[in-house]
Amino acid sequence: MKKQTNLLVVEDDLSMREFLSDLLSSDYNVDCSVHGGDAKKKLLDKAYELVITDVIMPEVSGIEVLKHVKEQCPGTAVIVITGHSTIQQAVELVKLGADDYFSKPFNIDDLLLVIEKTLKHKKFLNERKKSKETDGKPSLFPEIIGKAKVLKPIFEMMRKVAETDATVLIQGESGTGKELVARAIHEKSPRNGRSFIPINCGAIPETLLESELFGHEKGAFTGALVRKFGLFEIANEGTIFLDEIGEMSLTLQIKLLRVLETGTFRHIGDTNDITVNVRIVAATNKNLKDAVANNEFREDLYYRLNVFPLVLPPLRERKEDLDLLVHYFLKKNKLEEKNVGFSDDAFKVLEKHNWPGNVRELENVIKRAGILCAGKEIAVEHLPREIRFAGNTALSGTEIYEKTFKAAKAEFEKNYLERLLERTSYDITRASKFAQVTRAYVYEMLKKYNIDYKRK
Ligand SMILES: Nc1ncnc2c1ncn2[C@@H]1O[C@H](COP(=O)(O)OP(=O)(O)OP(=O)(O)O)[C@@H](O)[C@H]1O
Ligand SMILES: [Mg+2]
Repeated sequence: MKKQTNLLVVEDDLSMREFLSDLLSSDYNVDCSVHGGDAKKKLLDKAYELVITDVIMPEVSGIEVLKHVKEQCPGTAVIVITGHSTIQQAVELVKLGADDYFSKPFNIDDLLLVIEKTLKHKKFLNERKKSKETDGKPSLFPEIIGKAKVLKPIFEMMRKVAETDATVLIQGESGTGKELVARAIHEKSPRNGRSFIPINCGAIPETLLESELFGHEKGAFTGALVRKFGLFEIANEGTIFLDEIGEMSLTLQIKLLRVLETGTFRHIGDTNDITVNVRIVAATNKNLKDAVANNEFREDLYYRLNVFPLVLPPLRERKEDLDLLVHYFLKKNKLEEKNVGFSDDAFKVLEKHNWPGNVRELENVIKRAGILCAGKEIAVEHLPREIRFAGNTALSGTEIYEKTFKAAKAEFEKNYLERLLERTSYDITRASKFAQVTRAYVYEMLKKYNIDYKRK
């Protein structure tokens, strides 16, 4: 075991070098360097667990070797052996990152013990660092909960893209965390001290959205009583988050394309160009490719936005994260401190459910159950009926006596339609294709069950 550990001894004094080499060779793989320059070369060629270095050497000193190791091979430990140590020098060495230091003459047993202790400690630190980097919830985005395999490439892409100014398009069903991801990218980007301006393009009428985004001059249209800055100016040097970009009108899409291509735009009612430096993150729960095929979204804009596509998976495709998310939301809603948790049966219902509303739906279910359970364990009865029902389409033994076939069928149909609409973003054509029925039949059923199918 020990023989696999590589040590580098850096010492200009021949007798000391040979002494250390002999002492350590029975337990470790030992290489020796006569001076710092040679040590740097060896460190390039081979991975060492530990470097033991003298301080005063011609040309490249031990201090430089120490600095080099800390910068270039942070996983390697360094023990410094000094000719004459003062407290000041010792403090300096520790500050520079030495794991330990000895002054000559030293006790051999002490040195062997310290080498062993240092190697053990360094190994522990290296493993902890490694597990932090690879355990799915990178410390870089601690606010995004999830360790599922499907999230790994997304975290990786987020990490890379955060450092750049590239446009990002986040796609995913409602409640999958698109806004959370957009904010996290901004926070980890060099723009983090500047504003993050979110705007929901689906929630505002077209004319209003235009003046919100691009601003207007006084008198540009009826009601434009004063000159107004656009969000693109307000977000200058920062990030603008264009939520529900799929809802943007074709006319505004052209203006947005211009900002993306040239970094310029004009106030409504003005002919002067305004140049800005804004990072654009856009999100949609629509399938933008379909929207392009249906001529609802400009193809050129789609490709401009889609430089870095991030597709967030629905919760049902990462159910292994349910446990983590449940704990997170119990904590967030101050339920964990009251020792409120899910009963095994209640948790099984969560596992069976297919979560059309994704993480947002889960959080709401937990909030509601937390209130209903009154500080006790969350049981199946504290979960919304549609969840219990959707998770188990077969009626339970007692329920079967309570319902006629007709009532049970109606309940199923209504539930099915509601989920279907959520899933297809209230797009009747997609819903009918998905369910393999005609659009007319979907409308008929919506009317029958009095379901409001206009997008909320
Ligand atoms: N991985 C996650 N970890 C912790 N919280 C999450 C996660 N994903 C989503 N959430 C939470 O779920 C809620 C919904 O997330 P968010 O608003 O980002 O979703 P969205 O995809 O933008 O939804 P919509 O399309 O409906 O706007 C938020 O409260 C968010 O904090
Ligand atoms: Mg959102």
